[in-house]
Amino acid sequence: MSASLKITNLVKKFGGLTATNDLSFTVEPGQSVGLIGPNGAGKTTVFSLVMGEHRQTSGSIMLDGEELSKMTTPARIRRGVSRTYQVPRPFAEMSVAENIRVGLMPDSVFGMILKGPNRDRELELAMAVGFSENDLDRTPAELSMGDLRKLEMARTMATDPKVMLLDEVFAGLTVAEIAMISGLVQKMRSDGMTFLIVSHDLKALEPLVDTAIAINYGSMVAQGSYGDVMSSEAVRASYLGEA
Ligand SMILES: Nc1ncnc2c1ncn2[C@@H]1O[C@H](COP(=O)(O)OP(=O)(O)OP(=O)(O)O)[C@@H](O)[C@H]1O
Ligand SMILES: [Mg+2]
Repeated sequence: MSASLKITNLVKKFGGLTATNDLSFTVEPGQSVGLIGPNGAGKTTVFSLVMGEHRQTSGSIMLDGEELSKMTTPARIRRGVSRTYQVPRPFAEMSVAENIRVGLMPDSVFGMILKGPNRDRELELAMAVGFSENDLDRTPAELSMGDLRKLEMARTMATDPKVMLLDEVFAGLTVAEIAMISGLVQKMRSDGMTFLIVSHDLKALEPLVDTAIAINYGSMVAQGSYGDVMSSEAVRASYLGEA
């Protein structure tokens, strides 16, 4: 169930600001790529463009050779892309189980209400990210940041993706929670999932990626093995503030 994600000459302008500047790269099927860069570099914007939450100014986004650019977000999710959000976005009025259920039916919240619970699948996804059965009826307000990030992962996994885009999944987590999420990503990698992972926590990122891409001001500044990218002149200058 692996898929490739190919981005070609991608540009996104917000008014006078170029958030994505002629970016081209491919994540091969089953590959895991780290996307790094300083605050405001344009990492999250790439995710929003892939998901169709923003429309690109120009360029192409292909999933397994199929152009996603003109599709709605639910259509893209059906094709097999999904993302987590840097700031977790659960539906506050819904339980953990119901939030996962939304992921199971990305087309419509109403469809979910009509179809009703799929307790087995919800429990399976909840347990896969480290919740227990008792957690299913908890509400987001009761959850720690670690639990909210677990819920983001479960919701994302519920859409049965082929390519997962993870945005700062380690931020605000304890060491034990980082290990748990990391183990989950490793397991999915061994099952062939394709990943594009944004993380400021480079120590947590390193073991999860095959290669890395560094961007700054929306443009690619380095690409290659994680070690080569981190030691590149451009990354040291732009990202680590070492001129
Ligand atoms: N909806 C928007 N409207 C206008 N400008 C935006 C919008 N979204 C992002 N930007 C701008 O685009 C640039 C890239 O932002 P983006 O959120 O993609 O960066 P990032 O690399 O994810 O940063 P961080 O590490 O802080 O999460 C920033 O200058 C940001 O202010
Ligand atoms: Mg971001």
